[in-house]
Amino acid sequence: MTAYRSALDRPDAQVDRAKKPRKVTSKPADAVSTTGAAPEPMEGHGVYNRSSRVQASGLSPALPLLERAARLVLLAEGTEPIMIADYGASEGKNSLAPMRAAIAVLRARAGAERAVSVVHTDLPSNDFAALFEVLAGPESYLRNDPAAFAMAIGRSFYEQLLPAASVTLGWSSWAVQWLSRVPGPVPDHVQAAYSQDPAARALYARQAAEDWQRFLTCRGRELRPGGRLVMLTMALDEEGAFGYQSLLEAMYAVLMDMVREGFVRGEEVQRMAIPTVGRSRADLVAPFAAGRFAGLAMEELEIFCAEDRFWSEFSRDGNARAFAAGWAAFSRASVVPTLAAALDGGHDDPRAAAFTERMESGMASRLAAAPQPQLIPLAKMALVKES
Ligand SMILES: C[S@@+](CC[C@H](N)C(=O)[O-])C[C@H]1O[C@@H](n2cnc3c(N)ncnc32)[C@H](O)[C@@H]1O
Repeated sequence: MTAYRSALDRPDAQVDRAKKPRKVTSKPADAVSTTGAAPEPMEGHGVYNRSSRVQASGLSPALPLLERAARLVLLAEGTEPIMIADYGASEGKNSLAPMRAAIAVLRARAGAERAVSVVHTDLPSNDFAALFEVLAGPESYLRNDPAAFAMAIGRSFYEQLLPAASVTLGWSSWAVQWLSRVPGPVPDHVQAAYSQDPAARALYARQAAEDWQRFLTCRGRELRPGGRLVMLTMALDEEGAFGYQSLLEAMYAVLMDMVREGFVRGEEVQRMAIPTVGRSRADLVAPFAAGRFAGLAMEELEIFCAEDRFWSEFSRDGNARAFAAGWAAFSRASVVPTLAAALDGGHDDPRAAAFTERMESGMASRLAAAPQPQLIPLAKMALVKES
């Protein structure tokens, strides 16, 4: 017979929890909390690069903004290298198109000889080896451009990463929705946006507002006068929807299955929280209420919904398994590492690899059984540093 550490651990308790959110006060917070933990990076060894088609197509509407910014940035006189910063690059594949586009515009303005340095940044635990392989590969923007240089920084973008007034052009895609830390437990889900608990939602909203200001403050310091920052991030649509609903329902249901099967403990699931947020238009412009913030002005902001490519393909070929596999792989590469870190043994838990496989296959089965398009609300924006 299975021994459960507490009543909350019993699978039936977890099933109830899925139907009806428990009161936060009933959770032994200290014992189960991951509060304060930083998010995990994307799955390494090229997995993110292979499983980020959603992100690749979602970021493409922001490329014209980046090209425009590259046309408008003030360039230093003389031969000083032009620095581009790429915040939250992960394993780099999705940075290639934006960096290539930006460099092409800068080359047209500054000539083939002018040095352009690209600094890719991410969390210290990111798989930078995979990034360097991409940079050495055939698709790299370094190919055929002897005056382009690449480097990397492993440090949170909620700190100043580069010297003051050194960055001419900044880019960040699908990254600033990640909070600096887990602000607190989510009692009835892994994604606060789908929690019925107002206190949990408020906690995440507060952290999101604080982190947004911190991110902007750091970038405001790093950007040169007349420099520009273009960003693409997860958002709330104009009706306030976070999106990805059936995906997140499947994710939570698979976790409940694992508790029922005794593969994970209920307490472990209670520790699991994905510290990502979708910001509304109002959230994004809030720091700019008085005009500039940290020397930055918001030049352009658009909220839009990206196409669900897996759904479009499914609509054409009716292949539900391919649809489900695409979304399950997206989830595995991006958020499952953060869920797995909440297992009792953290990264080194002996179940971590099986947990990851079971999450992916469980989600794939559930999504294939009832395919539904995902709403993908995004924000694209351009900011300029006062000159
Ligand atoms: C979904 S990936 C986006 C990768 C790539 N830019 C793209 O568009 O596909 C988000 C990246 O942001 C990184 N990230 C999250 N929080 C971060 C932080 N505080 N500092 C630096 N990078 C962070 C993650 O590690 C991850 O590599």
